[in-house]
Amino acid sequence: MKKLIAINGSPRRNWNTAELLNHAVNGARDAGADAEIVHLYALKNFKGCTSCFACKLKTRPHGTCAMKDDLSPVLEKISAADAVIFGSPIYFMNLSAGMLAFLERLLFSNYIYSDEVPTVFPKKMPNAFIYTMNMTPRHFDQFGMSARLGMMEVFAGKILGVAPKILRVYDTVQFKDYSRYESSIFDGDAKLAHREAHFAEDCANAYDIGRTLVTQ
Ligand SMILES: Cc1cc2nc3c(=O)[nH]c(=O)nc-3n(C[C@H](O)[C@H](O)[C@H](O)COP(=O)(O)O)c2cc1C
Repeated sequence: MKKLIAINGSPRRNWNTAELLNHAVNGARDAGADAEIVHLYALKNFKGCTSCFACKLKTRPHGTCAMKDDLSPVLEKISAADAVIFGSPIYFMNLSAGMLAFLERLLFSNYIYSDEVPTVFPKKMPNAFIYTMNMTPRHFDQFGMSARLGMMEVFAGKILGVAPKILRVYDTVQFKDYSRYESSIFDGDAKLAHREAHFAEDCANAYDIGRTLVTQ
C-alpha cells in the first residue's frame, strides 16, 4: 500500500492549511493509500539545519541528517513514504519558519555538492506545495511571489526527483471574527464571502492533489 505524508507548516492545527491537507489526505486514502498529517508545530523540539555537514562527509552514508531531535522520525517516515505534501502559510512573503527548518533538514541532507549526483534521495517522490495566504492573486504577482517561492520548489523538484504540484490558496480568512482584531486593512465580510465562494474548490483541488500523488 502506498503512503503519503502531509506536513502542516502552520502552527494552527485546524485552520486553512490543515483543512486543505485533510482534504489531500482524504484524496490519497480514497485512492487506496495510507496517509497521515504531521503537524510540525506539535513537535516539541526541532531546529533547522545547523550546518554540521555530516551529510556531506565521504566517510558517512549520505542521505540522512545527523541531527537527532523530534524531526528525526519524521524524516525517516518520509524516506519510507511514496509521496509528500508540504503545506505552509505564507509568513512575511515566505514559507513559515517551521516549514523552512523542516525543508532545510529534509532537502540539504539529500543534496550533494556534486554535478554528477546532486541528489541521493533514494527514490523519485511525487510531491506538492500547498500555500495559504492573505494575498490575492494580484498581490502575489505584484510582489514577485512566484519567483520567490519558486526557488524552494526547484530544489524540492531536483532533490526529490519530481517537479512539485502547486496549489495556492489566496485571500484566506485569518480570524473567526474580524471585528475583534485590529485589522483595518482587511474587509472581514469580503474575506468571508471570498471563502464561501472559493474555499470548497480549493479543498477539492487539494483532494485531487492527494489522489494524484499516490496514483501517478
Ligand atoms: C507571522 C505571520 C506573517 C504573515 N505574513 C503574511 C504575508 O507576508 N503574506 C500573506 O499573504 N499572508 C501573511 N500572513 C497570513 C497567513 O499566511 C494566512 O492567514 C494563512 O492562511 C494562515 O494559515 P493557517 O490558517 O493555516 O494558519 C501572515 C500570518 C502570520 C501569522
